[in-house]
Amino acid sequence: MKYGYFDDKNREYVITNPRTPWPWINYLGNEDFFSLISNSAGGYTFYKDAKFRRITRYRYNNVPMDSGGKYFYIKDGENIWSPGWKPCKTELDSYECRHGMNYTNIRGEKNGITANVLYFVPLKTWAEVQKLTLTNNSKTVRKIKVFSFIEWCLWNAASDMENFQRNFSTGEVEIEGSVIYHKTEYKERRDHYAYYSVNVPIQGYDTDRESFFGLYNGFDEPQVVAEGKPKNTEAHGWSPIASHCIEVELKPGESKDFIFVLGYVENKEDEKWESKNIINKKKAKETLAKFNTTAKVDNALADLRKYWDNLLSIYTVNSGDDKLDRIVNIWNQYQCMITFCFSRSASFFESGIGRGMGFRDSNQDLTGFVHQIPERARERIIDIASTQFQDGGCYHQYQPLNKRGNNDIGGGFNDDPLWLILGTVSYIKETGDFGILEEMVPFDNDISVARSLFDHLTVSFDHVVNNLGPHGLPLIGRADWNDCLNLNCFSNDPNESFQTTENKTEGSKAESVMIAGLFVVYGRDYANLCNRLGKHNEAKRVQKHVDKMVDVIKKYGWDGEWFIRAYDYYGRKIGSNENEEAKIFIESNGWCTMAGIGKEEGLCNKALNAVKERLDSKYGIVLNNPAFTKYYIEYGEISSYPAGYKENAGVFCHNNPWIMIGETVVGNGNRAWEYYRKICPSYLEEISDLHKTEPYVYAQMVAGKDAFKPGEAKNSWLTGTASWNFYAVTQYMLGIRPDYDGLLIDPCIPTDWKGFKATRKFRGATYRIEVVNPNGKSKGISEVMVDGKPHKSNLIPVFGDGKEHSVKVVLG
Ligand code: GLC
Ligand code: GLC
Repeated sequence: MKYGYFDDKNREYVITNPRTPWPWINYLGNEDFFSLISNSAGGYTFYKDAKFRRITRYRYNNVPMDSGGKYFYIKDGENIWSPGWKPCKTELDSYECRHGMNYTNIRGEKNGITANVLYFVPLKTWAEVQKLTLTNNSKTVRKIKVFSFIEWCLWNAASDMENFQRNFSTGEVEIEGSVIYHKTEYKERRDHYAYYSVNVPIQGYDTDRESFFGLYNGFDEPQVVAEGKPKNTEAHGWSPIASHCIEVELKPGESKDFIFVLGYVENKEDEKWESKNIINKKKAKETLAKFNTTAKVDNALADLRKYWDNLLSIYTVNSGDDKLDRIVNIWNQYQCMITFCFSRSASFFESGIGRGMGFRDSNQDLTGFVHQIPERARERIIDIASTQFQDGGCYHQYQPLNKRGNNDIGGGFNDDPLWLILGTVSYIKETGDFGILEEMVPFDNDISVARSLFDHLTVSFDHVVNNLGPHGLPLIGRADWNDCLNLNCFSNDPNESFQTTENKTEGSKAESVMIAGLFVVYGRDYANLCNRLGKHNEAKRVQKHVDKMVDVIKKYGWDGEWFIRAYDYYGRKIGSNENEEAKIFIESNGWCTMAGIGKEEGLCNKALNAVKERLDSKYGIVLNNPAFTKYYIEYGEISSYPAGYKENAGVFCHNNPWIMIGETVVGNGNRAWEYYRKICPSYLEEISDLHKTEPYVYAQMVAGKDAFKPGEAKNSWLTGTASWNFYAVTQYMLGIRPDYDGLLIDPCIPTDWKGFKATRKFRGATYRIEVVNPNGKSKGISEVMVDGKPHKSNLIPVFGDGKEHSVKVVLG
């Protein structure tokens, strides 16, 4: 069953039934100021950091689901309703939510009145704008009342949820005209406040939550709205909110706009106050003046649309398959922007208080984003590398507000350093900016020990070389990419977190074949880079280690039919036919086939066939098989999950593309695309009831074949699935891949495709690419034409001339 449809022309997903199987959300803002908004206007707002600068409050996992947000209550006689259906849940005559590129438009209609709310964060603005348009479609004059509503968060989203003995006494607000200011803690150590305003005179306001709702009422029945009369309350402690009341008269056919702005301001210490205890409102007023008319707001939205037109013009495919085109051209790229902004911090599955920016996550996220805004990717690479330690190890996460490594989790995840090579190389291949390698980058944010970014790559590579185990495979440390394969944790205390518990690495023999494969792929990339820079000795040294690792993998990482996954603390195999459970894992087979290890001897084909036979399912490739059915203390969290969920035999969508790329390495386009379609959300729209999460974005995990309900997705939005699928489909399946000296065209497509067209803007020129497949091939090129002339290779040069160039590639 579907709950809406794709409107590709407007780049929107249009939800027509508010009772979606799970809140289907969108993100507003893409730089400093952000909101999450569901299809019924639930969600919250923050500045830069969802933990430290939470502007509005949200209650996770609430009953009913998704309660609290940016609400409007329309009081029309005795009838009270909300344009987004919730929170009132009054049956609407019509409802529509359009999630677009960083804006959401929710429209509800009841008894001849339409309320349309456009929500967005204008470019370069620390505020969310909400344009409410009320229209009278009836034949009589209508008098209605509108109440806005938001609930302030006391800034630190974590303490906001727990430290009530203090919190209930700290809340402070100021009201001036139609603007409600939230200034809790401004008097002491904070230099920031928030505000919520509307561009018309108001009939009244409320800022004290209990007065507005009544102590025992929910979001669906505020007492003030029921009584139709604001109380003009001023919050002192307890829970400050902001609500405006506006009386509106509408003639038949008449429409009126009301512009609400929810903003954030930072003031310098000596500019904090206007007079004693009265905050300096200058910056707030400047922002309000920018968005106080319909025309100004419409222009700001037009700018936002133009911004996305531009970003989404860089890579477009025209394959004739709508489902593919809309995901590649619109939604996957959009999701890559969102994962770039948030890493794994704030979604409806990530509370925004647990994790900041992940080291490995953010590097991987870059790969799906770097073509959009390379300058931001550049800055991110430097930020990430700045949290690295001198020995190449790194903090697993850092906080976006202060950009410092997160001590709660620390380091010791031995795959982390290698992803910095991926991030950096992806950036250079896109831009040709080798200069980034000369940037001086601190270690652990200590500028006194800064070294060049290139040196950071060297220590990243050497971190693996310096941490090899008994077989010569990389030691796993706390965990590798699979956060739940905790081979040194040995936790028997349910009060411990697998993720943060001290590990017993001393004397451990736990090695990772996945890191070994990763090391071969990114070691080669690093060697290649060294050669490009004329550092041939370093390249040789690196190549030696890589070659040795290839041998070690063939010797100790091969199980006969597939690549094993790891060795445990005691040096016993994991992911081997010898094991009773979890005989085979996806990750090592993905990375070793991506690296082409043993391709000539047929190892890659064998491994990929084993994956097909044992891990593939109707809804994607599961992580391991058979699933663990009991807790193995020596394996950790992976065996804690019920069979078929998360890292225990779930379809962990993040790693499916590794197999897709592996399939392209052996030229099996049919299979790569079969896998692609199984997890690609636009192909799953029809089974939205089962799939549950948004049909326009990838989810991290879909319940696997051993689960109670295979096919049910969780953890949508913030997942490496976004960048990896984009990377796989655009660079390896459609095969348009940036390289140091040009654009490499090497598609691997289904044999029954006749071809496709694509446009790629790359280093200042536009490549109009046409791939034709007259002989039903998957891979391999017989002819290349550039600007109408035969070209000797499939590496199309950098033109950089601001012009369009035609590229025709014939498979054969
Ligand atoms: C989560 C984490 C990621 C990890 C993956 C597998 O998605 O964000 O860092 O690699 O799980 O455990
Ligand atoms: C859990 C999840 C894993 C995630 C990790 C991060 O172990 O299963 O996906 O990466 O937590 O804390």
